[in-house]
Amino acid sequence: MDPVRQWREQGYVVVRKVFDAERIARLLPIVEDVWRRSQVREPTAGVPSPPDAPVLFHCNHPEYFADDRSRLAEVLSAGSAERVLDVPRRLFGEEPLFRSFSLWFSPERVSTDGHWHRDTQFLFPQEAEERARFPGFIDSDFGGSSAQFQIALVASDDVEYVPGSHGRWDTPAENAIRRADGAKHWRSNAMPGAVRVALEAGDGVIFNPMGLHRGRYHVDKLRRTFMATLTKTSAPLQDHFVRQPWFLDPGYLDGVPPAQRAFYERFIVHFGDWWRAGSPLESKAG
Ligand SMILES: [Fe+2]
Repeated sequence: MDPVRQWREQGYVVVRKVFDAERIARLLPIVEDVWRRSQVREPTAGVPSPPDAPVLFHCNHPEYFADDRSRLAEVLSAGSAERVLDVPRRLFGEEPLFRSFSLWFSPERVSTDGHWHRDTQFLFPQEAEERARFPGFIDSDFGGSSAQFQIALVASDDVEYVPGSHGRWDTPAENAIRRADGAKHWRSNAMPGAVRVALEAGDGVIFNPMGLHRGRYHVDKLRRTFMATLTKTSAPLQDHFVRQPWFLDPGYLDGVPPAQRAFYERFIVHFGDWWRAGSPLESKAG
């Protein structure tokens, strides 16, 4: 199916061979090292990442690369590669705007099944408000929203999605799993219509996080996934995720191919004044 049509109708698109074997071979030891370092000190919090946390945000923080900036350039080059931006550009109908890079790793000790959710429920913890605001996320065609592009560095089928759920509210059966009874059933393995997305190493899945989705975090299922979160340039989301003032550091983009720097420079143009001012969070859009 045409990716734009699949995005609109199903809320997710699989993109094959985003990263080739050579890039993966360069990236894997880097992300392993970043992950290890985050267990000692996660620089945005200033404390170690929680043990068995499934995700690390801001794997592009310069503190991880203080002794070898070429590894930072490798991460920034991978995340702005044409194969990463091409399909989102078509889905958005405009240039994608950087939002964040994250890593998803399988846990070392305790396995859990992920919980079914829509990211709107974190924006609006009260279900009545979430439901009232939800149509705005459909009508805006991803304005004020984001796309998550998970690229598997080792083969993974840890993401599950309910096709089409981004464009409508929960069915009663879905709501019974996602939110009912204090969400006590939200790790259910019985979500109707759920699809498990199978990715080979280098493949990626872009999904609309307003749709029903979850991950899987099992010790025996190795997961090494790089995630680029993107918005439309015309609809940036100003929140703590984009507070990344290290982009202002001199030389931060050194080693990134010149043709790819515009992607990050757009990000700096959008949020640089806000970082420089050190002002508190304020809603700029969406
Ligand atoms: Fe999510």
